[in-house]
Formats: sequence, structure tokens, C-alpha cells
Amino acid sequence: MLKVYIETYGCQMNVSDSELMLGKLIAAGYESIAGPEGADVILVNTCAIRENAEQRVIGRLGELRRFMHRDTILGVTGCMAQRLGPRLLETDSRVSLVVGPDAYRSLPHLLEGAIKGERFSATDFDLEEHYEDFQAKRFDGVKAWIPVQRGCDYRCTYCIVPYTRGPERSRKLEDVVRETREVVEQGLSEIVLLGQTVNSYTDGTHDFADLLRAVGAVPGVKRLRYTSPHPNDFSDRVIAAMADTAAVCEHVHLPMQSGSSRTLKRMLRRYSREDYFNCVARMRAAIPGLTITTDIIVGFPGETDDDFEETMTAVRDIGFDDAFLFKFSMREGTPATRFPAELLVPDDVVTLRFDRLHAAMRSGARQRNMRRLGERMEVLVEKEARKGDDMLQARSRDYKTVIVPGDASMIGKYFTVELTGTTGSTFTGALVHERRALPVAS
Ligand code: 5AD
Ligand code: SF4
Repeated sequence: MLKVYIETYGCQMNVSDSELMLGKLIAAGYESIAGPEGADVILVNTCAIRENAEQRVIGRLGELRRFMHRDTILGVTGCMAQRLGPRLLETDSRVSLVVGPDAYRSLPHLLEGAIKGERFSATDFDLEEHYEDFQAKRFDGVKAWIPVQRGCDYRCTYCIVPYTRGPERSRKLEDVVRETREVVEQGLSEIVLLGQTVNSYTDGTHDFADLLRAVGAVPGVKRLRYTSPHPNDFSDRVIAAMADTAAVCEHVHLPMQSGSSRTLKRMLRRYSREDYFNCVARMRAAIPGLTITTDIIVGFPGETDDDFEETMTAVRDIGFDDAFLFKFSMREGTPATRFPAELLVPDDVVTLRFDRLHAAMRSGARQRNMRRLGERMEVLVEKEARKGDDMLQARSRDYKTVIVPGDASMIGKYFTVELTGTTGSTFTGALVHERRALPVAS
């Protein structure tokens, strides 16, 4: 039996794709192994979103050589494979397969060729491809990533995704519900719906509101999340479905990218600062206790000091619970490459802005988290904590990380905890024993 190892970089969609690839290869007779040692096939599932994501992969391809024997097949899959295609075969003589996100169905066949010494690049888009008949080999025993949409039809000027994942298409609602039933039967109770702009989901008959209601109605689904939405696709119907569906968690990851309408316009985000604030207000009004996290790009071409100050005030006024901050990275082939060179923000200015935003973000989140000490809430135990013996990492419905004492038998189960401390970003919690339990604070 040939042994396959898949290493995954980038977003949850890539994690989900790796689960699908592994499932397909196991069905074709491969054995899955957890590390590169002794592998007959090594696949690196890559990300292309920023330059440094690609640099990491290139470095890693070099490192992996030391685990390879003469016959080991090395394949590159995912967004960087799609972006570079045959160029990867030219630059790295040990790579024998380059497979883009819509071509995973052909993996077993391509591997047969590679074993005979052939080298291939497969990067055609396939707008019908949802891998419906694949049995995903899930890495996580607590939550299930379920892709509901592939590709993206927005054209944000900085973003490579429309070019690496192609046009937007959605799975049929019935297929998503069927997969949800299957994972619940396997014992998973948290579902995370995935799509590049997941709330623009439409299968021609049903929209994202219908999907939330249908998945939330599957018996055994206790928590329902989704990532990542686009602010423009939060119709009143979708917000009402979130509010009405008990399983939908009180957290949304809502990428803002910038707090300046001028910058948002050049990003082609198709909303203004006011539109974004409005979206936040509508969601907060409908969903009590909603926490909001975001993505922000610092140093987009043409971002002035005044534009940046608008991002600072937006972060202060909205009160995000957390944010992923990114320095702008120019991606070959994106519309941003056509901005005049004088619009580029110098590196030292970007770094100063990034550090200021990071500090403001952290202190805001810290203050908000401090106010929550003493609160009681339900958590789902996800895994053993990285640090400390007999400590577990758990998650609240509103996406706070809570470290609780306990042993591995508690993983996948729900407990009531009291928040006893915070580092500013994560909490420590004490288990509240049911006999003494007070009503859970909402
Ligand atoms: N440079 C920096 N950040 C980017 N993102 C997407 N493209 C770029 C880029 N070229 C960020 C956005 C997006 C997140 C996944 O990555 O904030 O929401
Ligand atoms: Fe990229 Fe914009 Fe599509 Fe998100 S919505 S994947 S940022 S193009």
C-alpha cells in the first residue's frame, strides 16, 4: 500500500480540500500517514494569498527533500499550483505534479502517471466540480468543515483568489444537508459552512438564509458557523435566519479591509465605511451578544495618513473582538498591479501603521474581555491545550478561546464554565458543576 502525506497551508477551504483529497486517495487504496517520513507521495496544498505564504511553501519544498527517497512523488496542489502551473515543474525538478483546486478528481490517475516518471500540470477550472461523491477524511473530530461554495465573483483589486479558484458556484442545498446529516452521525456537532463569500450562496432556488435554516434544522447540529461572508451579502433574510436559527452562533467574521471609503473604493470592495457600520448595526440589533472579528489590510496603494486614521477610528468605534491584520502584498495579475508606482506606501510607513493598529486592536479587545470576567457560558472542548498538563482548549459560542482543566475524555463535549481570568485575548475558565449551575448568562 502506498503511503500518502498531505501538508496544508492557508485557509479553511484548503483544509477542507485536503480532507477531500485524502478521502479520494484512501478510496483509491492509499494509506494516510501523519508526517513526511516514509511517505511514497507527499502533497503540499498551498496558499497564494500573500507573497510570504508562497515563500514559506518554496522553503518547505526544499526541506521536504530530506524525507524523500528516489521514488517519492512530490506534488503541489491548491492556489499556488493554480497560479504558477507548469512554471513550478520548471523551477523545481523534484516536483512531478501540479494540481489546481478544481482538478483533484484526477489525482489518483495523475499519481499513476507520476509513478511511471511522468510530470503533469492540471489547472483547468471545472464549474460543475463540487466533489460530491468524495468521502472527506476529516482531520478534526469536533467540528466539520463543509464547503458550500467554490470560487469568487467579486474582483477586489488586491486579491488573487478569483484567479486561483475561478468563478463562484454553489452546491445544492440538499447535498449540503445530506453531508451535515452524515457528519452528525459520525458524532460531530459543530458545523462550519465554507465559501469565499459564503453568504452570497445560491443554488438557483435557495439562498444563504435558506441554507442556514436547513442546516440548523438537522437534528444533532448544536453549533453552526460560516466563513467568510462579504458585508454586501447580508440581506435582511440572512440576518433574520441567523437570529431565528438556534444553532447559529453569536459570532461573525466580517472582513472590513479598511475603514476609509476612499481606500475601499480603490479596493473595489463595493461598500463604504458607512455601509459597513450599517451592516454591523443591523446585525447587532438582530443578534444580542454578537461578537465580531475582521480582516484588515494595511498600506494598500494610495492609503494616506488620513485614510489610515479612518481605519483606526473604525476599529475603535466598532469594537472588534479580534482582527487579522495584513500588510498589503502585491500579487501578480491582480488589478492592483496597474496602480501607478507612486501610490505604493513605503515599507517603513506600512510597518508603523501596522504596529499602531495592532496595539489599538489588542488594547480594545483586552478591555472588552476584562469586562466579561465572572460570566458563565457554555463551551465546547476542542483539544488539549498547547501549554500545561491536563489543560484543554474550549470555545464559547461567541468564539472566545477558554482554557479549562480536564482530560482528553472531555474533548467534543459541552460544559458550563465561569470565566476566571484573561490574558487579554484568551480566557481561563473553571468548570461549573451542574448541581450548582446558575442560568447561563446570555
Ligand atoms: N495583501 C494583503 N492581504 C490580503 N488579503 C487578501 N489579499 C491580500 C493581499 N494581496 C487578506 C484580506 C482577506 C484575507 C483572507 O487576506 O484581508 O480578507
Ligand atoms: Fe478576494 Fe474579494 Fe473574493 Fe474575498 S471577496 S476572495 S477578498 S476577491
